[in-house]
Amino acid sequence: MKRIFSGIQPSGTLTLGNYLGAMTHFVDLQEDHESFFCIVDQHAITVPQDRLALRKNILSLAALYIAVGLDPKKATLFIQSEVPAHAQLGWMMQCVSYIGELERMTQFKDKSDGQEGVSSALLTYPPLMAADILLYNTDIVPVGEDQKQHLELTRNLAERFNHKYNDIFTIPEVRIPKQGARIMSLTDPLKKMSKSNPNPKSYISMLDEPAVIKKKIKSAVTDSDPEIRYDEKEKPGISNLLTIYSLCSRKTIEELTKDYQGIGYGQFKEDTADAVIARLKPIQDRYHELIDSEELHSILDEGKDHAHHTAQKMLKKAEKAMGLGRKR
Ligand code: TYM
Repeated sequence: MKRIFSGIQPSGTLTLGNYLGAMTHFVDLQEDHESFFCIVDQHAITVPQDRLALRKNILSLAALYIAVGLDPKKATLFIQSEVPAHAQLGWMMQCVSYIGELERMTQFKDKSDGQEGVSSALLTYPPLMAADILLYNTDIVPVGEDQKQHLELTRNLAERFNHKYNDIFTIPEVRIPKQGARIMSLTDPLKKMSKSNPNPKSYISMLDEPAVIKKKIKSAVTDSDPEIRYDEKEKPGISNLLTIYSLCSRKTIEELTKDYQGIGYGQFKEDTADAVIARLKPIQDRYHELIDSEELHSILDEGKDHAHHTAQKMLKKAEKAMGLGRKR
């Protein structure tokens, strides 16, 4: 069985972008892959985090993983900082990374742009991400479009390591969905929807109340030409809503454009909001059952043990390949 690995940062409440671009695919893939899904808290601290909010967000993400349909019997769910092999291999991957290639990462450029006191970890974020993936002999990494460049770097680092030291790492493939790989902001449909955007109107949180979802979608930026059709260049706002509506209702974009011929944006937005609400409702219900439960902790304890056991084997191989420690 092929292995998959993916991670999400607990840096705020997850958005509809995280759900449609990544999580729904995790749920499908767990059926016929050996799966590891990580809460990457060490990646989250590359930018300042409030201590209590971070702790809360870690558990909240764990509950969401399960609420969307990840089954702890099929998939291993765990917290990155609880498996020390990630930081250990992360350091080793930094030693095979070049500063120049890290500085070229668009995420680094975006997150450091105009900031004072940028942490060195923001630059060395991708070698840690490579370590996450390589520790598990991962074949496939399901992610949204914005992670493509990090995945290319992961492959390069793995090949470089294999060539320089010993051929120990599986070269992972990236899996980006055909639809929904880049859900856009509701206030600026040329930018991706992001949980770190300071304007909450720009994104739909997975835990937003129905009335809030309605309001946000109603005020989503569109255009003045009344036709509902998919055209990313001319009609980015409507195209984004069509993608969201299609993925939430499981109707194709062609079906929707036919259904909405001659119907105005008002009705279309109303129905898009209803489709999003209907899709998120069962997830939210399950989330609220789980969030304060002991069950969540036992799932994370088991996940930690299994991930630790698996990762340790690769860590030892990598240490041996680089000559760290002693031979016993
Ligand atoms: P993060 O936490 O920013 O996002 C988690 C996942 O959601 C996807 N995503 C989106 N997809 C579609 N439209 C959007 N607007 C949107 N926003 C986010 C992301 O592509 C991602 O799949 N570096 C990673 C976390 C990470 C990781 C890993 C991922 C750390 N180690 C190892 C895979 C494998 C990140 O910041 O994702």
